[in-house]
Amino acid sequence: MHLLELGGRDDAFAAYEATSAATGVRRIAPGLAVANAVVPERARGLAYTHRASELVGRTDADLEAARTLLEAAPIDREGSVAVRAADVRGSTGISTSEAERTLGGVLVDRGFSVDLEEPDHVLRVAFSEGVLDVGADEEVTDGRGDLLEPAEGAGGESAGERVSVCALGWLEAESVRDFGTRAPTDKPFFQPGSMDPMLARAVANLACARPGRTLLDPMCGTGGVLVEAGLVGADVVGTDAQEKMALGARENLAHYLERDDPSPTGVPRGSWAVGRGDATRLPLKDGAVDGVVFDAPYGRQSKIETHRLEDLVAGALAETRRVADRAVVVADRSWAAPAMEAGWELEATFERRVHRSLTRYVLVLE
Ligand SMILES: C[S@@+](CC[C@H](N)C(=O)[O-])C[C@H]1O[C@@H](n2cnc3c(N)ncnc32)[C@H](O)[C@@H]1O
Repeated sequence: MHLLELGGRDDAFAAYEATSAATGVRRIAPGLAVANAVVPERARGLAYTHRASELVGRTDADLEAARTLLEAAPIDREGSVAVRAADVRGSTGISTSEAERTLGGVLVDRGFSVDLEEPDHVLRVAFSEGVLDVGADEEVTDGRGDLLEPAEGAGGESAGERVSVCALGWLEAESVRDFGTRAPTDKPFFQPGSMDPMLARAVANLACARPGRTLLDPMCGTGGVLVEAGLVGADVVGTDAQEKMALGARENLAHYLERDDPSPTGVPRGSWAVGRGDATRLPLKDGAVDGVVFDAPYGRQSKIETHRLEDLVAGALAETRRVADRAVVVADRSWAAPAMEAGWELEATFERRVHRSLTRYVLVLE
């Protein structure tokens, strides 16, 4: 069993993204989830999961209970250790420095040496309290599309109840937090309406971006999604109706994906190709790609070439259905009805509030 420390404010979305790197993901407390198995190299590329650890055990959010748990836990490791504690979202008020001292003391008593700079093993300790708001109708599925049960809290609480959790785990993988270096305004080519790199990474992951897979963004704009998909190893293909965008996306992709330095996520960067094209008439064979992501124009922000917005989205949904079995659509409204008319099944939907006048809808289609 593994512990996932989630980031951001939307745990349902974070846990869902984590299913691209883990199986059997269940939320156990605000900001925390557990999983049956984790692929560490994929976890390093997650946007909304900060860490994955091999779960030692979990108890209530109480330092004495955590101490007892660690004293009794089997540990088949050798070498130096460091304990790093977190009070998730400040929800418990527990002193993390006291937790680190106390639990470090337990490990010293068990024969380990402490090395805070370069430990052989890091013990993560996460305290979290609050309402576990896994909706009864929330459908979280794993990478194979199997429906996951709503999570149970430490004491077996059902959805919507208050939970109090302390989870202990040996750190296995940390996601690479370099998204700030790819802010849309810092890219070689910038246009208003570009997607934030964290959301771009998450939707790329949801569309199965990984080495050996090919991902298409048929309305690629500045190439924000393609850059993030390429950085986790997917081969990427983009089209945009505007010549200016296709040229700009090429500039961005060359800048981020054609480099000699090692890739930050540890997997080689994917190849890329971008051309000018109409998303409703893609120059691709049936089933040519593994996944599609598109960020539909918001009407007021993006120039819509030749189509009414409804026709553009309906046409793009039909074309993406022809070329792929999986798609993620991001938009300022839910396009669920036209997606189903185009033959897609709705695997999940999320609403992410960006600011007062913009909510982004994320539809995951199979
Ligand atoms: C919201 S933007 C995409 C932004 C992109 N995700 C980014 O990070 O830069 C939508 C894009 O759709 C493009 N577009 C509009 N009509 C299109 C069509 N018929 N075919 C392909 N692209 C189209 C626009 O030129 C625009 O770049």
